Amino acid sequence: MGQGNNIRLGVNIDHVATVRQARRAREPEPLAAAVLATLGGADGITVHLREDRRHIQDRDVFLLREMVPTRLNLEMSIAEEIVAIALKVRPDEATLVPERRQELTTEGGLDIVVQESAVRAVVERLHAAGIAVSVFIDPEPAQVEAARRVGADAVELQTASYSEARGTAAITAELTRLRQAAAQAAQLGLHVHMGHGLNYVNVAPIAQIPQVEELNIGHSIVARAVLVGMERAVREMKDILLRCRSGQ
Ligand code: PXP
Repeated sequence: MGQGNNIRLGVNIDHVATVRQARRAREPEPLAAAVLATLGGADGITVHLREDRRHIQDRDVFLLREMVPTRLNLEMSIAEEIVAIALKVRPDEATLVPERRQELTTEGGLDIVVQESAVRAVVERLHAAGIAVSVFIDPEPAQVEAARRVGADAVELQTASYSEARGTAAITAELTRLRQAAAQAAQLGLHVHMGHGLNYVNVAPIAQIPQVEELNIGHSIVARAVLVGMERAVREMKDILLRCRSGQ
């Protein structure tokens, strides 16, 4: 599974909505960003409908469901209110993430080991609606095993620790954890995704991990898009991924 040359780029456009919400204004419109990201080569659009609605709003998710021609990946907590919306929206994929009100962004993976039955119940409800389920977890053997037990289709291994590591030894150690977790997940029949903190400089070793089928990248792409435009920012990232997979 996932050993081919293909690697999907899911572009997370939450930050576009963050700029809009800074003024409670109408622009920039996340839908427009999704269209331009798709033109730039995005294989999917990812958004996180947070319980506090700090960026993406309910109407965005419903409109994106109508408009995104590729794949819509909805990042979501397992809170009942959000699960009910996901069941109405029916994204192509739901990625279950932890959520804390005070955090700047998602911090660390979902601890499936400690809330296995609650996560399993949500996975079952999403599956019944035809939605594929990914779980955002730390690259830990116990979490990968739990992901399999709850019936997830995919794991998204968090790359924040890798992105934040400083010095060759620390970076190598984080890469080793990710490589091992990716191999373990693929062996268990899980699709392997990764994301968080990836940028134009640090993405290559991650994209070269053969089991990785999808990367979800937001901050670095939207940050570049502010300066060079969304279509170009996405194309530049997609080109890096393609080069990594073609061995150039
Ligand atoms: N994957 C998950 C599960 C996330 O929560 C986020 C941030 O919303 C991302 C990927 C993208 O992270 P970044 O914005 O750092 O690229």
